[in-house]
Amino acid sequence: MEYTHCPVISATGLFTPAESISNEELVESFNRYVEEFNAANAAAIAAGEVEELQPSSVGFIEKASGIKSRHVMAKAAVLDTATMAPRWDERGDDELSIMAEIGVKAAREALERAGRKPEDVDAVLCAASNMQRPYPAMAIEIQQALGIDGFGFDMNVACSSATFGIQTAADYIRAGNARSVLVVSPEITSGHLNWRDRDSHFIFGDVATAVLVEDSAMAPAEHWEILGTRLKTVFSNNIRNNFGFLNRATPETEGTADKLFVQEGRKVFKEVVPMVAQMIVDEAERLDIDAQGLRRLWLHQANAGMNRLIAQRVLGHEASEDESPTVLDTYGNTSSAGSIIAFHKHSEDLAAGDKGLICSFGAGYSAGTVFVEKVG
Ligand code: COA
Repeated sequence: MEYTHCPVISATGLFTPAESISNEELVESFNRYVEEFNAANAAAIAAGEVEELQPSSVGFIEKASGIKSRHVMAKAAVLDTATMAPRWDERGDDELSIMAEIGVKAAREALERAGRKPEDVDAVLCAASNMQRPYPAMAIEIQQALGIDGFGFDMNVACSSATFGIQTAADYIRAGNARSVLVVSPEITSGHLNWRDRDSHFIFGDVATAVLVEDSAMAPAEHWEILGTRLKTVFSNNIRNNFGFLNRATPETEGTADKLFVQEGRKVFKEVVPMVAQMIVDEAERLDIDAQGLRRLWLHQANAGMNRLIAQRVLGHEASEDESPTVLDTYGNTSSAGSIIAFHKHSEDLAAGDKGLICSFGAGYSAGTVFVEKVG
């Protein structure tokens, strides 16, 4: 199909929280919690009524995931064994929400890099795995804070939210319904992570990214043409969070583990790797792109082992750090923002004509591919 309007990525923006937790600090806190729990429940554990908790280990975390540290919005509260969750003073309705605040910071950087004024933007999509509240939409608050005259809405496709947002924005542009769309992904994932769960307490980190998707006719000289996008979803309970407005916390259910992130990590690994690798190869073929000739893969940042296997299947050889850059080591899994951080930090060195792939995957299951080519 021929389109009159060609969508491109004009610029990206990134907000990184100042605070960061190393694996050593995280494990020290987790193991202190384990000691406190086991001491408080010593009699029940001895009677076989309560299971004794096992300590976490820095060596395991790095080997199983590749994560060395993660940024968070509220370090002290996360490491305090009395809370082990992010906490900050509740803000009034007339103050900017925390999620909007970090989204605005990332968005401002994208606008500055593109030399774009807010009044030239038509729409804001807030694409993230968790929204701070059901309504009014976070996107509309971000739109207002930036001074954009247009429309905004929230979309949640878990770890694939940003790529789903990019395709949505690209479709608006192809159809002529918008010329400039901001896809903002504020991911305060520390809120849905169960910091008391040994199997997953090390996985996530906080961040915000923004992608400015525009009609090539108005884009800056240097930009990324979107060659094609493809989305896929397959229902799975292997990554699940039952928190929602139909199960308001009661004193009995407060803090129950299934109202936070829960996963069968091994199954996710085994099922998602082949699904995503095949999807990339099929989509490259459809777009007549030589997958093995892709200059760079900006993959979802959940697990170093998963990325190694996917990149190998796509490129036909073990990918170098240059071919498939990692930000997982210092950011952890930042849900939908991960592949965008990798793109933001590792794309400037590419030359005009170089082709690459932004790819996300995660809960749903969901996966999204965005093939791009450097222009200018
Ligand atoms: N410290 C020490 N040991 C730990 C531990 C911890 N924090 N957590 C688990 N272990 C132990 C387990 O008890 C288990 O021991 P056992 O073999 O004696 O029973 C062993 O380590 C292996 O656990 P497992 O969960 O199978 O580890 P893994 O190697 O599969 O790695 C993940 C776990 C979660 C890092 C990995 O499966 C993964 O990243 N999967 C994909 C996740 C993903 O992408 N999710 C998407 C989220 S959006």
